[in-house]
Amino acid sequence: ANIRYVKVADKKEAAEVVLERMREELAGGLEVLGLATGSTMEPIYAAWADSDLDFSDVTSFNLDEYVGLGPDNPNSYAWFMNHHLFSRKPFKETNIPDGKAHNLEEECEEYEARLRGAGIDLQFLGVGENGHIAFNEPGTPFTSITHLTQLTESTLGVNSQYFEDRSAIPETALTMGISSILSAKKIILIAFGEKKRHALEQLVKGEETAEYPITALLRHPDVTIITDLDNLTA
Ligand code: GLP
Repeated sequence: ANIRYVKVADKKEAAEVVLERMREELAGGLEVLGLATGSTMEPIYAAWADSDLDFSDVTSFNLDEYVGLGPDNPNSYAWFMNHHLFSRKPFKETNIPDGKAHNLEEECEEYEARLRGAGIDLQFLGVGENGHIAFNEPGTPFTSITHLTQLTESTLGVNSQYFEDRSAIPETALTMGISSILSAKKIILIAFGEKKRHALEQLVKGEETAEYPITALLRHPDVTIITDLDNLTA
């Protein structure tokens, strides 16, 4: 594995570091960008939206979406992306799994084919407190491709803060698989705060285990971890 850790003071510095990296990637001919949702990405997208970066030749692929939620629902990841980024920065084309697809299996197959056909140059990732990446929960095989998944109690608990009514949270989602994510040429994972320490330390340990999906990144040749956590120990 080739994992580089970039320690930042805070979210503001992380946004600056990522903005400069995006500037370099775009200048270097980046065409296909893998995007993530979650509170971690908010300051990152805000900085892009306020910048002069030009995404008009870029195609994006998002990691995941809740089953049953469409772009008009403020809890959907489609809404999140429109609100934080796409409405402020035009892209050539954007792709998000369709959580309202009539045939979810078929939607997953098509999404996987589309993203493999395009080839993701750079994939952004956050991480769940339990070490999940996208919605690949503990136990998901590293060979997985885009699929329908059942969310764990832990993830439902953490994500419930965004829903006014706990019972309104979808318990299933469509997500890129771990193999889909690893197919990206480069990966940047961003993690803020002590709640993410346990997950990041599994990576520092250096042992691949399906119990912590984040450890699949050990198989990838070009990973950058941007975090405000220091003294990460194995
Ligand atoms: C959700 C998303 C993940 C994201 C995680 C962390 O479960 N599916 O892609 O990494 O939340 O979210 P946050 O950035 O809010 O901590």
